[in-house]
Amino acid sequence: MYHLVLARLGEGPTFDHCIATERCMAALARRFGEDAELWGLTGLVHDMDLDACEPDLSNHTLIAKHVLERIGAPREMITAVLAHNDKAPRTTLLDKALWVTDPTTGMITATSLVLPSRNVADVQVTSVKKRMKDKRFAAAVNRDQIRACETELVIPLDEFLELCIKAMAM
Ligand SMILES: [Fe+2]
Repeated sequence: MYHLVLARLGEGPTFDHCIATERCMAALARRFGEDAELWGLTGLVHDMDLDACEPDLSNHTLIAKHVLERIGAPREMITAVLAHNDKAPRTTLLDKALWVTDPTTGMITATSLVLPSRNVADVQVTSVKKRMKDKRFAAAVNRDQIRACETELVIPLDEFLELCIKAMAM
């Protein structure tokens, strides 16, 4: 059933972000010995209702919850989707991973777009960290949420960024 979600996402601007988040989440799952398919799909669907909700985001993730329940998605996936938008507490490793990965893909993508090649494969960890210190660059991206990889996931920032860059460049 996820192909329906994918088809709908493909029509909106959030598509690339969802694909990037899917790749990072699957890579993180492998890092933790968790279910890469579940984590990847959770990343893929996490913003499935975002484009439809703009500009009023009060229903963001609530519409997704409704759709995901209808297609019989696992409870832990639905909870993580809600939790990434503060509509449920973040308790599981999956909840925390999605919350941390979400802004990280945004920062890495923004960093790639100022490179001459505009290719995420050319992004360096040091460049992302430098951009994170510039508050005007990709100002909407929450830096503290990215740095929370060290407390929420117990992965050093450098390793986390490296993992995400490699996953996104696949
Ligand atoms: Fe997102």
